[in-house]
Amino acid sequence: MADQKRCNSLLEQALKLYLQLLRSRNVPNSLFKMAAERCLNRMRFLGQYSNAILVHKLVIDRFPDTPKHLSDMAVTYLTVNRIDEARSVLKQVLAKWPDDGFALVHYGFILKTANKLEEAIFYLERGIRTGDEGALDGRFYFHLGDALSRLGKTEEAMKVYEEGTKNKVFLSKYQRSLYNVPRLTGKSWWQPEDLPYSASFKLLRHNWMKIRDEALSVLSVKGDFQNESENLKDTGDWKQFELFARGQKNSRNCKKCPFTCSIIDKIPEARSCKRGQTKFSVMHPGTHIWPHCGPTNCRLRAHLGLEVPSKTFIRVATETRSWKEGEIIIFDDSFEHEVWHNGTKLRLVLIVDIWHPELTPSEKRNLSPI
Ligand code: OGA
Ligand code: MN
Repeated sequence: MADQKRCNSLLEQALKLYLQLLRSRNVPNSLFKMAAERCLNRMRFLGQYSNAILVHKLVIDRFPDTPKHLSDMAVTYLTVNRIDEARSVLKQVLAKWPDDGFALVHYGFILKTANKLEEAIFYLERGIRTGDEGALDGRFYFHLGDALSRLGKTEEAMKVYEEGTKNKVFLSKYQRSLYNVPRLTGKSWWQPEDLPYSASFKLLRHNWMKIRDEALSVLSVKGDFQNESENLKDTGDWKQFELFARGQKNSRNCKKCPFTCSIIDKIPEARSCKRGQTKFSVMHPGTHIWPHCGPTNCRLRAHLGLEVPSKTFIRVATETRSWKEGEIIIFDDSFEHEVWHNGTKLRLVLIVDIWHPELTPSEKRNLSPI
């Protein structure tokens, strides 16, 4: 009824009743499980994670010999970033059930997030090998390959990516985004002529110097550019200044770059690209960015070169290119890419994400933002 009427107060009443039931005596197992599952589902929907933990504990008390119930609690802890608690619950599961695939991959995932690569590989590999339901998720192949690659075990990483492709968690061994529209053409590098966006590219190219000057003026103020946040950097210094993200303008930053933002406002395929960003990216000499893949195949990524010293390179899949000042390169960042700055002056580009040209208007309206 709460769902039908979209009524949260009814839902609250229902949750109270579920809890009452879960605490009652003489409730049959099947009813108990149904109520617990539904209760957890609705509590997650409402963001009531502490209450969800209480329910997990009731379920675990009743079925202490089912490892899945403990692992489910660990997943709830992970959702709210209570990593230590998640880790300790999973450790408990693995002490009793060392071959539990679901616990193995989640434990490995936590280790990977903490950059404990060797240990992460040990658990992720064993977890995936069990073939257990829930262990064959793309995220685990993704992080296993990444851990191997960061340890220089490139061939082993590629084998993991090939296996992931065979098991349909990746589009291909190089294209490893996990939020995909499956039918879209996937290729690493695109030419501007391949796309219906020539007016937009012209606008960017014609205005590149004013865009560059605006970026340089923000760059001269310390603290406006932010460190890239996803632990993708091996060595060096790499910072970004975001103008649009998830189809929304960053008004604070756009006040500092009104000209550039006014240009993006005239580029609907970028302005409305809910699955991407527009941002300046500055990279200092001596920087190496690990091979990585973006989250979705729904966007293409244009880089407008603004300050481009020599000895700066970007590899996408198997082909390495460089930037030119005032010119645009376009690649699909769902394909593995890697960046090097071996030069002596800073490199600056404007990154503009644009919708993949094969998406329909209704897909563009309805896809969830990333
Ligand atoms: C990217 C990326 C690094 C850079 O655009 O997805 O990783 O700034 N770029 O060259
Ligand atoms: Mn990238």
